[in-house]
This record gives sequence, structure tokens and C-alpha cells, in this order.
Amino acid sequence: MKREIALFGAQCLRQPCAPVAVVEDAIRALVADLFDSMHAATGVGLAAPQIGVLKRVCVVDVTAHQPNCRPVALINPKITGREGEQIGEEGCLSFPDLYSDVKRYAWVEVEAIGLDGQPFKTAGEGFYARALQHEIDHLDGKLFIDYLSPLKRQLMRGALKRLKKESAAQAKASAIDSI
Ligand code: NI
Repeated sequence: MKREIALFGAQCLRQPCAPVAVVEDAIRALVADLFDSMHAATGVGLAAPQIGVLKRVCVVDVTAHQPNCRPVALINPKITGREGEQIGEEGCLSFPDLYSDVKRYAWVEVEAIGLDGQPFKTAGEGFYARALQHEIDHLDGKLFIDYLSPLKRQLMRGALKRLKKESAAQAKASAIDSI
């Protein structure tokens, strides 16, 4: 099911997420929602806190950029290997239409639990590595704008202010919805 994606300014984007203890049906449903919401927004990754769930779960699908990297669901992911560096343009579904260059590791290896409850490893470079690092950051309440220089952040100030306003309106609307 497609869920609403929280915009910058929402508190859920700044909280550390709790590890998943057991991969049960609720977690599988969460992963399905993450994929649905990410694909609906034509994103390449989405983390549970972006739909308001403070659990260490995220999905990545960069097949449009790297067809050899299959879509992946990561539960309790940890970066276990890192090498080199890359600078490239990055965006985030919680920051519509905002992009900036971010420095990341060129290659990472990630250990996680899969939907079958079993640990697995995935590794890659380029855009896949970038997306993995970006999504895992979300689970610690870290956002791509945290990497920007003060000057670049200053240049984005107006856009960020607008997003915060929109996010406050979003929170108000969903509070009314849930009454
Ligand atoms: Ni993001």
C-alpha cells in the first residue's frame, strides 16, 4: 500500500530507529509498503522513518541506473566494508526537487537480515553504493543535507524553509485524518 512520505521538518526523519527483533508479517507488510511508496514516487530508495515507522528497515531499487543490482529490502542493515570515495548528485523523497552533490564511499558492503529472516550480504559501487549509504543514514536520523557545506546549506535555506512549512501542513492534515 502506498503511504504518505514525510517531508523535511517531520520529527520522524530525525529519530534513531529501533532494530527489528523478529521478521514477522508486520515487517513484511512494511517492506511491501516501502516498495509501493518508493515506486509510486519513482524513487530509488526509501527508509521506514520516511513513512513514519521508526524501525531499521529500508528498500533500494536502482535497476533503472544499474540493471545488474536487484531491488533489495534491508532489515537491520550495517555497513561492514567501505572503500574509496565518489562525489555525485543526490536527492531524497523527503526533499522533493532538491538535489546536491554529496561525497560518499565509492564501494560499500552491507550486512542485513532479509525477508526470510536470514542474514545476507550485498555489496556494490556507484549509484547502488550511494543509495545504500543514503538509506542506512535515514535509520540514524541522518539526512543528505547534513553533508553539505555551510555555504551550500545557506543557499538551500529558502527551499528548506518552504519544505518545513509544507511538512507542518502535512502533519496537521494527517492529524485530522486520524480523528
Ligand atoms: Ni532519503
